[in-house]
Amino acid sequence: MSPVAAPTATYRALTRAISPRIVECELTHLERLPIDVPNARAQHAAYARALVSLGCAVEEVEPAPDHPDSVFIEDTAVVLDEIAVITRPGAESRRGETAAVERVLAPLRPLAHIRAPGTLDGGDVFVVGKRVFAGRTGRTNDEGIAQLRAALAPHGYTVEAIDVTGCLHLKTAVTAVDDRTVLANPQWIDLRALAGVDVIEVDPAEPMGANIVRVGEALLYGASYPRTRARLEARGHRPVCVDASELAKAEGAVTCCSLVLRA
Ligand code: GLY
Repeated sequence: MSPVAAPTATYRALTRAISPRIVECELTHLERLPIDVPNARAQHAAYARALVSLGCAVEEVEPAPDHPDSVFIEDTAVVLDEIAVITRPGAESRRGETAAVERVLAPLRPLAHIRAPGTLDGGDVFVVGKRVFAGRTGRTNDEGIAQLRAALAPHGYTVEAIDVTGCLHLKTAVTAVDDRTVLANPQWIDLRALAGVDVIEVDPAEPMGANIVRVGEALLYGASYPRTRARLEARGHRPVCVDASELAKAEGAVTCCSLVLRA
């Protein structure tokens, strides 16, 4: 694991190199398009630099070249201040991605694990204050959500399940902007499930625009969603934007490429 910034930062962001086999990645809702791997790597490097600019010490976890989707490290764990839950990814091809991430997280947090028959992808989980939302998707099942709930309850978190239709992960459809607000696409989730939370809706012309990385009060966002960005700015948010268009062809977005945790 190689640190990219001094370990005095407030946040750590764990990332993972793009596998040379990314062209064999899982695809659920997208047609397979050619991926320009050097361009994807350049975008990934710019993404890491943006995380550093937002106050993260970026640490690259040992690469997993035989796992095509391993750049999408978010799916391997749910990390809160009090605990890290090592997931059991819903795609069989991704189950081998968790071990190296677990080794990195073990000294940093007490660990819990999702066990069979539970499945859970980190991309199906987001947090607003002490409310944790978990998506029922092709990757995350009710047993996985129940195990997550049991792991987090002792730390004062509630876990609310949300049905997701039409996209891969819950965080494709909705992510947290701050401790009161989310960015959401109402085509893929029922907004009534978010009662009590302020919702900024994506521009209808930008359905993939609901995915944003939160680093404390700072935000990192894809450059492909200018109309939704304008909506965020109208609400006082000033996201730093990066081009993540090449990784989007692998059905990944900005949150997928890191695990951000308080250092
Ligand atoms: N290609 C991203 C995923 O299916 O997990």
